[in-house]
Amino acid sequence: MRVLITGGAGYIGSFVVRELKQRDHEILVFDNLSTGRGQAVPDVPLVVADIRDRAEVDRAVGRFRPDAVMHFAALKSPAESMREPGLYYDVNVVGTANLLSAATAHGVRRFVFSSSCAVYGTPQVCPVDERAPLRPESPYGETKVACERMLGWIAGSHGMAHASLRYFNVAGAAEDGSLGEHLHEGTSQLVPRVVMSALGIGPEFAIAGGDYPTPDGTALRDYIHVEDLAEAHVRTLEMLGSTRLNGVYNLGRGSAVSVLEVVNEVERVSGKPLAKPIGTRRPGDPAVSWADAALAGRVLGWTPKRDLTDMVRSAWLWHTSDASAPA
Ligand SMILES: NC(=O)c1ccc[n+]([C@@H]2O[C@H](COP(=O)([O-])OP(=O)(O)OC[C@H]3O[C@@H](n4cnc5c(N)ncnc54)[C@H](O)[C@@H]3O)[C@@H](O)[C@H]2O)c1
Repeated sequence: MRVLITGGAGYIGSFVVRELKQRDHEILVFDNLSTGRGQAVPDVPLVVADIRDRAEVDRAVGRFRPDAVMHFAALKSPAESMREPGLYYDVNVVGTANLLSAATAHGVRRFVFSSSCAVYGTPQVCPVDERAPLRPESPYGETKVACERMLGWIAGSHGMAHASLRYFNVAGAAEDGSLGEHLHEGTSQLVPRVVMSALGIGPEFAIAGGDYPTPDGTALRDYIHVEDLAEAHVRTLEMLGSTRLNGVYNLGRGSAVSVLEVVNEVERVSGKPLAKPIGTRRPGDPAVSWADAALAGRVLGWTPKRDLTDMVRSAWLWHTSDASAPA
């Protein structure tokens, strides 16, 4: 299949690119390299442009004529979106509208969208399944709801097969340390931030909130290994169109881990004693959120295989390797 991947030079996108290349799909990456890096997708054609640029998006889709589009490019920090909501609507919603317009104009048959558990806000019931009410608590989560709905309507009206994959918290790196998440000033994900702290680099780390109504007072999350996530994408892409797959799917491990447990695991794997200061809660952060991912398991025949130790061990290997150093 010919697959156009926006945000393919980013963390999750680069794993999906790698996985699809191994399966002989033909790839074009579209990325403005704001947080992604060209070196994450070596030997893959790359268009460096912004998804907000409608003409560039249309040109790339029109020239490459993909069978499928996978849309990862977005801004992803709930806390930043509280400060800059307009920017999040612009990149996430306008960007998706541009891409959908180009995809439908040029006859794309399959579309896979990177959504998020942020669409649920603080779920009333955990594990949360796809029928739960959508109550995002940040502009970031709102943009994901808006995009899912836009995709449903527009793809539906053009007979384009589509899936929105609601990821929970993605972590980890390649088992051999050859690919992982690139750190940048705005890195907000927990595992890389704690790893940075263990390495003595980056801004000071503090646990965001120690007074949540949870057993150890820190927020509960569902962490999923990036390689398990990439496998789910490949299955979704290849099955779309052949089955009644259209819709939304949670992708998580279905188990809750506290922020403190993650910090302790980084300490254990790295062998570096960590200070664990408790800071204030981050606006837009729910107290608890973990997935019921049974639907994806059933429909995609997919089960996550890797656990928290695999995530932390691979992330540590990656962040201490030469490959992760800035180019
Ligand atoms: N990482 C997670 O835990 C997580 C959880 C839920 C959902 N998601 C979603 O998954 C997707 C990928 O996230 P990620 O963790 O790989 O983030 P990332 O920042 O590593 O990747 C995003 C990629 O998109 C590119 N990009 C950003 N803005 C762009 C623009 N305006 N035009 C073109 N390219 C642009 C970046 O350069 C980068 O390569 C996002 O849509 C995010 O919302 C991520």
